[in-house]
Amino acid sequence: MKITISKQTPMNYHGEMLFFCVQHAKGNKAPQCGNPTLQKNINNAFNAKDFLGKEGQTLITYPNSTKNKKSPTRLVAVGIGKDELCRELFRICGGTIAKSAQSCKASKIMVVIPETLNFPLNEIAECLTEGIVLGNYSFRKYKTNSKNNDDPQFLSSIVYAAKSDRKVREGMKLGLTAAISGNKARDMANEPGNYWTSKHFAEYSHELSKKYGFKRQVFGNSKLASLKMGGLLGVNQGSDEPAQLIILEYRTGKKVPTLMLVGKGLTFDSGGISLKPGAGMQDMKYDMCGGAAVLACMNAIGTEKPSNLDIVAIVPATANMPGPSALKPGDIVTHHNGKTVEVINTDAEGRLILADALSYGVKKFTPDAVIDLATLTGAVIVGLGHHRSGLMSNDDDLSKKIELAGAKSGEPLWRLPLDKEYSKQIESKVADLKNVGDKGAGTITAGAFLKEFVDDSKWAHIDIAGTAWGFTDKSYIPKGPSGIGVRLLLDLIRSW
Ligand code: BES
Ligand code: ZN
Ligand code: ZN
Repeated sequence: MKITISKQTPMNYHGEMLFFCVQHAKGNKAPQCGNPTLQKNINNAFNAKDFLGKEGQTLITYPNSTKNKKSPTRLVAVGIGKDELCRELFRICGGTIAKSAQSCKASKIMVVIPETLNFPLNEIAECLTEGIVLGNYSFRKYKTNSKNNDDPQFLSSIVYAAKSDRKVREGMKLGLTAAISGNKARDMANEPGNYWTSKHFAEYSHELSKKYGFKRQVFGNSKLASLKMGGLLGVNQGSDEPAQLIILEYRTGKKVPTLMLVGKGLTFDSGGISLKPGAGMQDMKYDMCGGAAVLACMNAIGTEKPSNLDIVAIVPATANMPGPSALKPGDIVTHHNGKTVEVINTDAEGRLILADALSYGVKKFTPDAVIDLATLTGAVIVGLGHHRSGLMSNDDDLSKKIELAGAKSGEPLWRLPLDKEYSKQIESKVADLKNVGDKGAGTITAGAFLKEFVDDSKWAHIDIAGTAWGFTDKSYIPKGPSGIGVRLLLDLIRSW
């Protein structure tokens, strides 16, 4: 998709749709767009109470076209609502623009940047771009009859009409990097489990390291055995495909803090011997969304090359299958840091693979902060539904930073406690820990488990089981995988 900025008079645009963003009418006044032709239609639609400029509302009109005169085929007003202006409103507006273009099968559009609104122009351009590019997303790789008339049309060219092109360009670049990377995470998640295996995670990390010059290491089963990663290897035992521990390092070459990102790369979670029920099991191909978010974020980091942080990304990748040598309830595994764990339920496998990745990472890289992302517990959906990710942390400052980045990026979180009482729930009679805590608080006991593997590092755990797919209904969020975590991490890194 090509995005350009133009100072041309919008009405001379010869594309399929010309969009204007308008605020919700105040009192008896119709929404104002600044374009006389469209304004007449807005006034009429307003008087008929059909168009008020509400968030997500659109009004499509068709200007009289005179021969030889260049003008767009459609003039469209998009409502941004009457709430206080914020970043999310412009993302939603961008998503609405993409959906409206799809409904008209338009591929070339112009969007007039609302330069008179009382909101920073670079942020308007950034968030509109995020919304349009994320809203334009679709995964069609496996659709073979793609010449169908009913097939949706996707955007190929967007022109922003703006007078001040420096600020708009600045924002547009940020938005584009974030959205392309978010879409990349969605692509990985949409791939089926019989294609996107641990090997594909390793291959994508290779692509990233070649493209951006990251240092890369990938450990297979024999190396994992020598590192005594009994959790990752244990979960992998039921599967034909070997496990992979993928490590990418972005280095500034300066004396800056190191941030370590760890993502659960469980390419299919059958539950293992503690087999999951059949209904909905197909969604467990998405159990790698944490790993996808971390690698997609490295794509953004490679593009932007931040100067304020060194970043280490680690993805433990494997499937969780019930094969003849699979881990069984009652088995005991020994992790990289020597801690032993009694496996009560083989379906609580995410914490087992993360435990090795975290304990190896904190020892090897001594990071200044550690963040892990994982589709870890169904319980987080009980607590927070599909609107916020669960956040647990041993550090208030890190936690606040993450919450702020979540609010800014439209990927909100809610912090849960990690008091020592929760850790008591995962004490085992026969080993150091057990992988399931009794008596409720399933999300927190999973967090309490991970805490045992980060030593004294400042650490935060983000449970994205409720938000990685089926995330809140929004114009720029598709029904399937949302790409959650990518923009959150990117915002955090940008503002560190
Ligand atoms: N991958 C699942 C968590 C999950 C559940 C993600 C639903 C998205 C939607 C995880 O590995 C799991 O199975 N967790 C168990 C833990 C339990 C056995 C303690 C769960 O939440 O049921
Ligand atoms: Zn599981
Ligand atoms: Zn899982």
